[in-house]
Amino acid sequence: MMQGSLIEADTSMDSGRRRFLGLTVAAATAPMLAACSGEEYTVIPDSRFPIGPFGADSTAEEVTAGLDLSGSTALVTGCNSGLGFETMRVLALRGAHVIGTGRTLDKAAQACAAVTGKTTPLALELSDFGSAADCARAVRDMGVTLDMLICNAGINTFGELELVNGVEKIFVVNYLGHFVLVNELLPMMLAAGTGRIVHVGSRSGYRSAPAVGIDFDNLRGEGVFDSGEAYGRSKLANALFSLALAERLQGTGVSSNVVHPGLVQTDIARTAPTAMRVAFDLFGSLIAKTPGEGAATQVYVATSPLLDGVNGAYFEDCNPVTVGGNHHMFDRAMAQRLWSEAQVMTQLSSA
Ligand SMILES: NC(=O)c1ccc[n+]([C@@H]2O[C@H](COP(=O)([O-])OP(=O)(O)OC[C@H]3O[C@@H](n4cnc5c(N)ncnc54)[C@H](OP(=O)(O)O)[C@@H]3O)[C@@H](O)[C@H]2O)c1
Repeated sequence: MMQGSLIEADTSMDSGRRRFLGLTVAAATAPMLAACSGEEYTVIPDSRFPIGPFGADSTAEEVTAGLDLSGSTALVTGCNSGLGFETMRVLALRGAHVIGTGRTLDKAAQACAAVTGKTTPLALELSDFGSAADCARAVRDMGVTLDMLICNAGINTFGELELVNGVEKIFVVNYLGHFVLVNELLPMMLAAGTGRIVHVGSRSGYRSAPAVGIDFDNLRGEGVFDSGEAYGRSKLANALFSLALAERLQGTGVSSNVVHPGLVQTDIARTAPTAMRVAFDLFGSLIAKTPGEGAATQVYVATSPLLDGVNGAYFEDCNPVTVGGNHHMFDRAMAQRLWSEAQVMTQLSSA
């Protein structure tokens, strides 16, 4: 089984992430420089938000130690594998009722049955907007208050251009499907006046996206296709979705934040060429996080009392950061345009 995403690997990653171990070390070592494709990015703590005691080596169990989540409900997309499974496992372990989604009900049910605690499986196929709407309807019908909505599921493909209903597939699965799901669940969360929406993005959003950011004239395969850029574009879209949503959520009690989990040993790059997969199977454990470490950031952002009211932040290694350099992760105008385009592409006029 493929264990990791080479597209996000770089030699500085391990030493870099291990340097970022909470406020003291982070402040002492900032700016942390990460080089990729000749670009340099400066990652520093975002002083607008609280810095916690956790870092790159923290696990999801560690960041929730002592927390009692009984009475709360979380929805985790992609619960049957990698970060989603670990996120569901730990949230349920701490007492939360976890609604776990899989591409089929069977996959979700098998994953839910494999963890201790209260879980409910649901089907969610993100390339099918009807499935996203059905999933949201099923959640609404449960009559629960959704305290955590963790948009985790995703793909990273290494092949040729694929279109879903005329739109590039990675963009559809990683972004548009979640756009529908979130917007369908938002009225219920706003009515409750509480809840944290966590988008699982990636630093690929600034390292690998097209130089122009979201290349709106290439979302339907009109131009050149590069699978690495397509993944980066989809992860930039996750970040911009969070940003635009956070603006809309100000003062509502509901929050939206986005995270990069790190380079993690999961099945995300299952379609990578064999030689790449074998190399990573052999050496990946030297540079990648375990699923427990990888899930820590999204679980921390979903649960930490320290982050009450935090909205519109970007996290790496369990801390809010800002990123200097040439990228579009915090481009508000692009975020608003993306929202409008997504409304058209998903035909969600009321979003
Ligand atoms: N691993 C890393 O190094 C890394 C780094 C940065 C960001 N991320 C992000 O972390 C998130 C979780 O990925 P992972 O690393 O845990 O990978 P993973 O082990 O491959 O898990 C991905 C999950 O997404 C689901 N999924 C894929 N296509 C879907 C679709 N069309 N509809 C609904 N669900 C779908 C998968 O279901 P099936 O198993 O049924 O296909 C699986 O449950 C992704 O958003 C990824 O981009 C990962």
